Amino acid sequence: MELLPIGVVSARSGTAPSALRYYEEQGLLPAATRTAGGARRYPRTVLRRLAVIRAARNVGLSLPEIRAALAGLPEDRPPSARDWERLSSEWRDRLDEQISALTELRDGLSSCIGCGCLSLGRCALFNPGDAAAAEGPGARRLPPALRRPVPR
Ligand code: FES
Repeated sequence: MELLPIGVVSARSGTAPSALRYYEEQGLLPAATRTAGGARRYPRTVLRRLAVIRAARNVGLSLPEIRAALAGLPEDRPPSARDWERLSSEWRDRLDEQISALTELRDGLSSCIGCGCLSLGRCALFNPGDAAAAEGPGARRLPPALRRPVPR
């Protein structure tokens, strides 16, 4: 199996070396092999994992969600097309929920979202006196998928 130095993995994936070390620590990447001098070497297959991690982060999945999904991938061989297909199908419901929430957001941002700003004329009707604050923090009228804590 071809092993790549951390700098090559970083350059090819567009991921900072510090992020690679962090992902390894968090179990998103397999533990690197070490050279006699202690330098990290990763199998080339981590590039695919990193592409999936980046895509997942960009659609708002948290590190624990990504870790859980990647944990199902084989360690003894590179993931097959079927493995990747299974992984993406596990995220399908989550992605569908986000697509519908974003569509709702796109089509409805001109109305009150219950954020407490009371800046729109309609807020006086839909959120008089910031009544939405009693429901909890955040813009209470946004779809729940858009009110999840932002992943780190
Ligand atoms: S849009 Fe902010 S409270 Fe209505």
